Amino acid sequence: MARPRVLVTRSIPEPGPSLLQAACEVHIWPEALPPPRAALLEAVRGCHGLLSLLTDRIDAEVMDVAGPQLRVISNLAVGVDNIDLQAAARRGIAVGHTPGVLTEATADLTWALLLAAARRIVEGERYVRAGEWQTWDPLLLLGTDVYGATLGIIGFGRIGQAVARRAQGFGMRVLYHSRRTMPSEVTAQAVDLPTLLRESDIISLHAPLTPATHHLINRDTIRLIKPGAILINTARGALVETAALLEALRAGHLAAAALDVTDPEPLPADHPLLALPNCIVVPHIGSASRQTRARMAEIAARNLLAGVHGAPLPHAVALPAPSAEE
Ligand code: GLV
Repeated sequence: MARPRVLVTRSIPEPGPSLLQAACEVHIWPEALPPPRAALLEAVRGCHGLLSLLTDRIDAEVMDVAGPQLRVISNLAVGVDNIDLQAAARRGIAVGHTPGVLTEATADLTWALLLAAARRIVEGERYVRAGEWQTWDPLLLLGTDVYGATLGIIGFGRIGQAVARRAQGFGMRVLYHSRRTMPSEVTAQAVDLPTLLRESDIISLHAPLTPATHHLINRDTIRLIKPGAILINTARGALVETAALLEALRAGHLAAAALDVTDPEPLPADHPLLALPNCIVVPHIGSASRQTRARMAEIAARNLLAGVHGAPLPHAVALPAPSAEE
């Protein structure tokens, strides 16, 4: 057969492009922003493989416009909430993702945010740069102890467990709430969600975004959170109801939040969350180290290559049983 045609929806790091170019006819969307919907639909037409990003909504329409030769969608992410898995299953399209290689980088970033929020690093840095630092002050920028505190982890897969492992060095009591009880070498106690919310000083989210976890942190669940606790989100923005978070931060019910992901994402520059001193927001950089992104690009390329050649993907997403209804 002629070389398979593949679309990559943004520039990705090496070795991704070289691996693909050696075996496929590759079109890489050249712009800094994701392809607008019409451009995506145009570019995907006739492709055998699609390498997508979490910013691309890959639904039944994209798959149908691509055509029946589309065999694989390879997401450059571990999360696949941007892809309609049921639509892929119905069409026999394999879906790949990049688990494992980004676990430690994402856990590191979670800890960077956790420490920054608890010890008010961003506020302190702004204070110094604004020329306000006049003396040592016993009341200045008092935060929350991390050492010895209780950490509540929601979602205890690879990343949640990696966050928990780091907590051992901080003498923390670790609670977790997860769909499944995970075998784990970390000492952590499985609890129900209300217990976790009531007892944790710091809560960190690591669950995938699904209909069951959408707005898991909402007005009702926030009410259960211990006053003065800190919320960290490096998973997906829509796990949290943004308006409820805003209220809780304004009221001081939550001492602080640190977010790598938001809803909406990106957060508009004039969003009220960005006016709060007790909210840190960074632009979805959980896996953003050079080494990790290179490994992700390699896995995404290898998933795509396997898929266009009809081979099992090295890192396939388990698809739901196809249902008849679209
Ligand atoms: C990033 O958010 C990912 O899912 O890999």
